[in-house]
Amino acid sequence: MQTQSINAATRPDHFFKGQNIVIIGGSSGIGLETARQAKEAGGNVFLISRSPQRLQDASEAIGGAIQIVADIANPRPTIFAGIERIDHLFITAGTARLQPLTEESETDLRQVINERLIGPLLAVRAALPILHSASSVTLTSAQLSSRPLNVGAIMAAAVSAVESLTRALAIELSPIRVNAIAPGMIDTPLLDALMGDEKRKVLEQTASNLPAKVVGRPEDIAQAALFLMSNRFITGEVLHVDGGGRWV
Ligand SMILES: NC(=O)c1ccc[n+]([C@@H]2O[C@H](COP(=O)([O-])OP(=O)(O)OC[C@H]3O[C@@H](n4cnc5c(N)ncnc54)[C@H](OP(=O)(O)O)[C@@H]3O)[C@@H](O)[C@H]2O)c1
Repeated sequence: MQTQSINAATRPDHFFKGQNIVIIGGSSGIGLETARQAKEAGGNVFLISRSPQRLQDASEAIGGAIQIVADIANPRPTIFAGIERIDHLFITAGTARLQPLTEESETDLRQVINERLIGPLLAVRAALPILHSASSVTLTSAQLSSRPLNVGAIMAAAVSAVESLTRALAIELSPIRVNAIAPGMIDTPLLDALMGDEKRKVLEQTASNLPAKVVGRPEDIAQAALFLMSNRFITGEVLHVDGGGRWV
């Protein structure tokens, strides 16, 4: 199957018409906004995440999507049963564990690796029979790969490994294209859970420190995800969408 190569600014509304776009982590934040934009561009959208209720709400919010309940930390080989072809797979599921090492149990540490590395690898492998030569896979890293914090060492290591995995899979799975997005701070429900009442203050402080002088919105990452899906000449790339946060 051939895909067109066209940049996001000139992509016509129907660009993804008839294409199947599967988003693991599609019921909230970055994944949900990507689903919305993919659907607006004509795609058939499949949402995968753990909570059936969140999936149902997300589907209603974007005017309908096929919903699949699964945990990316432990995906079954049959996770994509019933989908006959995947044109674009976006894996953005994940929680943020930002704890001091001394407060992490061994189970917590292994869970991060399952959620960020082993699970996505198993999901990609399960998708292989229904991916095709013009398909793309987009994984999710984070600014932590370049700018570790004083907490969350296992997260920093895991997302760095995602970037390495991206390059390796781009070679091993060629001609399927494999890329990753490394978001900076994006105002999504993830931050509500992480920061609670402090969120507004932290976002304002972060924005004032960033070269872009704003924090990201889900739309910024969704636009990048659709760009990686639609540009046929990009593979093995990590796209940093972080307002310049790596440099300050
Ligand atoms: N927001 C940021 O500032 C930021 C920065 C850097 C990187 N990221 C990364 O970007 C990704 C998306 O973040 P977001 O801000 O959009 O978060 P979000 O709003 O919390 O959305 C996360 C989505 O992933 C699903 N999910 C979480 N854990 C899952 C699991 N184990 N299996 C299947 N689905 C799972 C959630 O649904 P259920 O809970 O129902 O499963 C939800 O649909 C995450 O990997 C996050 O670490 C975010």
